[in-house]
Amino acid sequence: MDLITKAPKGTADLVPADTHLWRLAEQVLISEAELNGFAEIRTPAFEHTELFQRGMGDVTDVVEKQMYTFEDKAGRSVTLRPEGTAGTVRAMLENGLYNAGYPVKLYYNIPCYRYEKPQAGRMREFRTFGVELFGTAEPIADAQLIALAMSAFRRMGLEDVGLQLNSIGCPTCRKEYHAALKEYFSASREKLCPTCLSRLDRNPMRILDCKNPECQELAAAAPKITEYLCGDCRQHFSQVQAYLAALGIGFTLDPGLVRGLDYYTRTVFEFPSQTLGFALGGGGRYDGLVEEIGGPSTPALGFGLGMDRLMLALKEQHVDFPEPVKCEVYIAAMGPAAQVKALTLVNTLHSCGVPADCDICGRGLKAQMKYAGKTGAKFSMVLGEDELASGKAVLKDMSTGETRKVDIGDSFVDDYLTFSTQQEDLRF
Ligand code: HAM
Repeated sequence: MDLITKAPKGTADLVPADTHLWRLAEQVLISEAELNGFAEIRTPAFEHTELFQRGMGDVTDVVEKQMYTFEDKAGRSVTLRPEGTAGTVRAMLENGLYNAGYPVKLYYNIPCYRYEKPQAGRMREFRTFGVELFGTAEPIADAQLIALAMSAFRRMGLEDVGLQLNSIGCPTCRKEYHAALKEYFSASREKLCPTCLSRLDRNPMRILDCKNPECQELAAAAPKITEYLCGDCRQHFSQVQAYLAALGIGFTLDPGLVRGLDYYTRTVFEFPSQTLGFALGGGGRYDGLVEEIGGPSTPALGFGLGMDRLMLALKEQHVDFPEPVKCEVYIAAMGPAAQVKALTLVNTLHSCGVPADCDICGRGLKAQMKYAGKTGAKFSMVLGEDELASGKAVLKDMSTGETRKVDIGDSFVDDYLTFSTQQEDLRF
């Protein structure tokens, strides 16, 4: 085939075999979020650029290198959202959701855009399932949020997802830490990559998540934030750990974990997949972001899961999900009058929530039955002149060969349900 163009680099089509799995995973996440009292929010796919610059920090990889930013026809700078948190904070404030009282609990399932070098688990358009929780500084909230994610992983059958935990403190303890980092990295400034060199004065913490091997080697021996935590932050962090222990959630303390965005304060965490070797998601507290975006000082926290990565993990671990039911009943028809009847019976089954189909391609009876087999239909029925005349037809269980004469008039649905339930019972 000579297509005029292919899908843009770093994007993926999700075909029906994928979307079925995606929806099952999304259902688990939505159900877990709703069990915890979160409600869905939908925000625009693009925002004014300054929201991300101010929100995520302008000295971050995402803002400096990865944003899809362009001017619209009126000359305004807009950006395709690279993540969900900043837009959710803006929308929470703009719509006054805090008026109903705190905590405000929101979740979203959205496409995000980052201009990155595509590789396994790294796309330019990727989907994020995120939750954001506003209005509590209590460490119990951190534990509840983490428990939500861990229990979703468990329900999906993902056995290899860990929890890496750290605290990066508040602006007070961060000041002293920044000074220590600056001193440490300045001593080896000749080894830093040009980006890190430019970050040395403005934001030395970002050097810690540089991907350059030489910078990484230096970062590994850099002073750790946990040594600089103030008393309050230290206590907060130990309480988060105590709640997690009470929930039976195992974790690894990782003093080098700082996350790549500037808004984080105190607790930060990631969910690494051992099989894939990278994180399925991450998050933490961002107690200063609501104020930064123009709202009242409001403690908050959240996490984002990379759905594309989650899918890779599910496939890699061969997690069993139920097959999609494409068709439960196939009604084959011979002749125009039988076709009309088949279409109306199929329509009736749909109104009762039963997946059903009939021929819409003008096929002969043999081809129709072959197609019925291909759809995986559990039951089939053939309609011809005799059936129309008698008002009865034979319903057949495709796997056992069991048959039953059923009414094709007013009692059709009752007869169908009686037979199909009996067959289901026999299968058990
Ligand atoms: P993030 O760690 O930048 O955090 O992204 C969250 C997750 O999105 C990552 O762990 C990863 O699974 C997925 N992800 C990120 N970039 C890509 C990509 N290029 N391709 C595929 N997947 C990707 C955030 O975005 C924060 N907003 C999370 C958060 C919510 N923190 C507090 N609330």
